[in-house]
Amino acid sequence: MELKGLILSGGTGSRLRPITHTSAKQLVPVANKPVLFYGIESLKNAGITDIGIIVGDTAAEIEEAVGDGSQWGVKITYLPQEAPLGLAHAVLTAESFLGDSSFVMYLGDNLLRDGIEDLVDAFTTNGPEALILLQEVPNPEAYGVAECSDGQVVNLVEKPAEPRSNLALVGIYMFTPAIFECCKAIKPSARGELEITDAIQCLIDNGKRVEPHVVSGWWKDTGKLEDMLEANRLILDAIETDIQGTVTNSEIHGRVIIEEGASVNNCTIRGPVAIGRRTSIHDSYIGPYTSIYYDAEVANSEIEHSIILEQSKVIDLRGRMEGSLIGKNVQIIRLEQRPKAYRFMVGDNSWIGIV
Ligand code: G1P
Repeated sequence: MELKGLILSGGTGSRLRPITHTSAKQLVPVANKPVLFYGIESLKNAGITDIGIIVGDTAAEIEEAVGDGSQWGVKITYLPQEAPLGLAHAVLTAESFLGDSSFVMYLGDNLLRDGIEDLVDAFTTNGPEALILLQEVPNPEAYGVAECSDGQVVNLVEKPAEPRSNLALVGIYMFTPAIFECCKAIKPSARGELEITDAIQCLIDNGKRVEPHVVSGWWKDTGKLEDMLEANRLILDAIETDIQGTVTNSEIHGRVIIEEGASVNNCTIRGPVAIGRRTSIHDSYIGPYTSIYYDAEVANSEIEHSIILEQSKVIDLRGRMEGSLIGKNVQIIRLEQRPKAYRFMVGDNSWIGIV
């Protein structure tokens, strides 16, 4: 059975502002690769090459980054969603693209360590109407929550105030076309969206088979800062050393990626760390779980457990930076001019912690 892929890459990214005021949350890099690319690779590894991507306001940026999919050997079709009206609304937006194919729906900000090959096999072999992925989480109220009994899903609720289990719905789902009817039958939730969670509940209410799989490897929804940093940590934990750039007069410990054209001079780098192409780091300490994207500069500073996006500069920082996400083209620099004062030009919803 040929499955299609449907990646959701619209949404407003409200929990990652201000980064998402100007960029798509799915393009924020984790270990220097946009989150969305991990999803495309995961579909491709499961043999799915006909992929639709739902796009919203950030369509142009997503299309520029992903192109026609040939860099992965897949075919991408862009499907504009008129407004972010929910995951079930996105499925309906894709109805003519999906036709009578079964499909894997992948939320573009989700990362799953172990890929989906085995799950796709289980879906095609066992033939349920839907296959859902679940994982135990400490804060189920932030997710869709499933209640299971005897290996069957009996009840699904989107972000319940009082969760009846700690099993969260992972943002990767497998469906037959039976889901369309349910996406049409449900009403918008309290947050005004057509929830895929409600559409799956509708399948259950109509006696259709919904197969649950609890995933054992790690899973991250990168919608918030802490989750983004955690995803960065988890991906960096598995990198292998690969030094293409130039390293002079520096100490490198642990596993470190230094891409082509990057330079590291007079530094201590304690991996796992990823440094992007043409980035220059000098007279600095870069500590574990840090990703610095391309064309950036770090000088006379100490950075740990952080993500820095392209073209940003961190110069002469006196204290160590940690647990931070710095957007594109940001400059954090020490000024010697008088009066000695903090000078900020900071976007909406930014957050700055000073010592
Ligand atoms: C969405 C789904 C939720 C699921 C989560 C996984 O939440 O509605 O059921 O658990 O993705 O990432 P959202 O990110 O839209 O809040």
